[in-house]
Amino acid sequence: MTTSWLFKTSFLILYGVVHIEAFHQTHSSTFNLNQTYKPSFHFQPSKNWMNGPMRYKGLYHIFYQHNPKGATWSNNSIVWGHSVSKDLVNWFSLQHALTPTKSYDINGCWSGSVTFLSNNKPAILYTGIDKNNHQTQNLAIPKNASDPFLKEWEKSPKNPLIVPTISNKINVTSFRDPTTAWIGHHDGFWRVLIGSQEKGNKGITLLFKSKDFVNWVQSKNPFYSAKKIGMMECPDFFPMLINGSINYGIRHVLKVSLFDVSHDYYLIGTYDTIKDVYIPDKGFEKNNNEVLRYDYGKFYASKTFYDGVKKRRVLWGWINESSIQEEDVQKGWSGIQAIPRTIWLDKFGKQLIQWPIVEVEKLRTKPFVKLHSKVLKEGTLFEISGVTAAQADVEISFEVNDVEKAQALDPSGKMDPQDLCSENGSKGKETGVGPFGLLVLASKDMQEYTTIFFKVFKANKKHVVLMCSDQSRSSLNHKNDLTTYGAFVDVNPLYEDLSIRTLIDHSAVESFGGQGKACITSRVYPTLAINDKAHLHVFNNGTVDVKIKKLSVWSMKKAKINYTPSSVFF
Ligand SMILES: *[C@@H]1O[C@H](CO)[C@@H](O)[C@H](O)[C@H]1NC(C)=O
Ligand SMILES: *[C@@H]1O[C@H](CO)[C@@H](O)[C@H](O)[C@H]1NC(C)=O
Ligand SMILES: *[C@@H]1O[C@H](CO)[C@@H](O)[C@H](O)[C@H]1NC(C)=O
Ligand SMILES: *[C@@H]1O[C@H](CO)[C@@H](O)[C@H](O)[C@H]1NC(C)=O
Ligand SMILES: *[C@@H]1O[C@H](CO)[C@@H](O)[C@H](O)[C@H]1NC(C)=O
Ligand SMILES: *[C@@H]1O[C@H](CO)[C@@H](O)[C@H](O)[C@H]1NC(C)=O
Ligand SMILES: *[C@@H]1O[C@H](CO)[C@@H](O)[C@H](O)[C@H]1NC(C)=O
Ligand SMILES: *[C@@H]1O[C@H](CO)[C@@H](O)[C@H](O)[C@H]1NC(C)=O
Repeated sequence: MTTSWLFKTSFLILYGVVHIEAFHQTHSSTFNLNQTYKPSFHFQPSKNWMNGPMRYKGLYHIFYQHNPKGATWSNNSIVWGHSVSKDLVNWFSLQHALTPTKSYDINGCWSGSVTFLSNNKPAILYTGIDKNNHQTQNLAIPKNASDPFLKEWEKSPKNPLIVPTISNKINVTSFRDPTTAWIGHHDGFWRVLIGSQEKGNKGITLLFKSKDFVNWVQSKNPFYSAKKIGMMECPDFFPMLINGSINYGIRHVLKVSLFDVSHDYYLIGTYDTIKDVYIPDKGFEKNNNEVLRYDYGKFYASKTFYDGVKKRRVLWGWINESSIQEEDVQKGWSGIQAIPRTIWLDKFGKQLIQWPIVEVEKLRTKPFVKLHSKVLKEGTLFEISGVTAAQADVEISFEVNDVEKAQALDPSGKMDPQDLCSENGSKGKETGVGPFGLLVLASKDMQEYTTIFFKVFKANKKHVVLMCSDQSRSSLNHKNDLTTYGAFVDVNPLYEDLSIRTLIDHSAVESFGGQGKACITSRVYPTLAINDKAHLHVFNNGTVDVKIKKLSVWSMKKAKINYTPSSVFF
């Protein structure tokens, strides 16, 4: 494997001569579509869903959905790419773990998960697309479990283990993405969830049980189902300690990736381990908007794994492009992984808190800007210079004293945060508290920029904090998806600061509001605000003054992404 396999594809060769769009011609020669938007510290698989990440013999492994034949997704050639890392930041690529070779997976080795069996050896359950384009579930184990790299994987001679049949009534084209399996300690049976959908667009996660990990029996009742939400892809199911301590008890999280809307939703609930019944506190019954999302921007097909050494659960998601397919082909790559996030339950057990893994801070470098107690008056735009604004880590917290001057939000009106953010974006001066926040990847003349900001409203005598990521002016190339995203942040501005952390990596902008209570990830492709021509500002366009309590900004180093393993490193 060379380092370039991920980006140099046959598609690139075929389409490498595509004409450069008009908007490029006016700009500098440093502009090169396939390099300019390439992130420097985000893991970059070629495309699509995430498979099981894990830690084994001192190394982190990521297996990812990859199309070796092109920069876009393919209906018949998806393999399991495989990379390893010591720190979840720098990655070394290995040979593909699984490729389509058998009749049961000849049209693709789709998503799945790794489970540690009782002997502590890893096993992969994955979805194969068979010669009839039906979805089957299969097993693979390492050829040599003593090899910490787990380079070679062997498919089980018993494959396919589970197939949709007339008698089990499973939809042949909607049966995929087995979870990590878990064992019922009272009966010793393995359990696994698989995503599916039934008639009438009913989304379901099916439960299967097995004594030997090979023969699987479907449970009579689905583990979870909800009407009219469509295919549930990439289910993930895991326990979370309340307050990080067994003394407070355990909650169970079920995450589903809804194919129809491309969002990852999670439920918090109670799992009866004996009856195998899962009851979420709040499900999809009423309205999707009431179900929590990991991220309110672009973030899909995520998976978690438990890192037993660091005693943390790590969430990892895939971030799609916002560019059109022709440009993905021109770039020669598409799709990146988000920065892995440590997750835990908030102290009320109501939601998950997410924060970039601490290891990413190793990439922080000088120059380092720090600032305290600066008041931002109405209409202020304040530039932060001395950092690489296209490759940075920004932490800022604001204090608002005049929260009472917040605009009233009509409680009977629409309360969808994305709609509220899209209504005005950060476009004009507004009466009230906010918009204020960060203005990133800005061109010198302000023709291009992306804003991540807060607005505070009053509704039903409470304060409602809205966090937005406005991409509407992020690029002069209007072929990109420029959707504005929004989320409510569960903080009380009377007592708490409003904080944002944003990781900026050329075309990736990942923002964590309220210390990880709400996350918004976006992809932006500026044509002017690139590399050293990108600027970073803080702004306040509300009529109420806000105070920057603390601001820290670091330039970020480049991570080693998909290098060939060398004896120097290992
Ligand atoms: C980027 O694309 C150009 C053509 O647009 C091509 O000549 C060049 O080799 C590509 N670079 C990489 C790293 O693939
Ligand atoms: C994949 O798509 C191509 C083009 O649409 C089609 O010709 C081919 O039959 C498809 N292959 C499979 C396995 O579905
Ligand atoms: C298995 O891996 C270990 C550790 O890398 C190595 O020492 C051993 O030679 C390997 N065994 C085989 C049969 O390849
Ligand atoms: C089966 O899944 C396909 C999508 O792959 C969907 O279009 C179809 O409606 C599903 N059939 C039923 C009966 O749910
Ligand atoms: C990825 O983004 C592109 C462009 O916005 C969109 O066309 C495509 O449907 C998305 N794919 C998924 C799986 O979300
Ligand atoms: C977590 O601990 C705090 C006290 O530190 C307590 O107030 C809270 O109720 C606990 N959370 C739960 C869900 O029990
Ligand atoms: C949008 O701006 C108008 C005019 O300033 C204001 O009345 C309205 O409340 C704003 N809406 C939101 C959601 O901020
Ligand atoms: C702030 O308001 C001014 C005046 O309406 C507007 O020109 C500017 O674009 C706004 N700033 C941001 C960041 O949206």
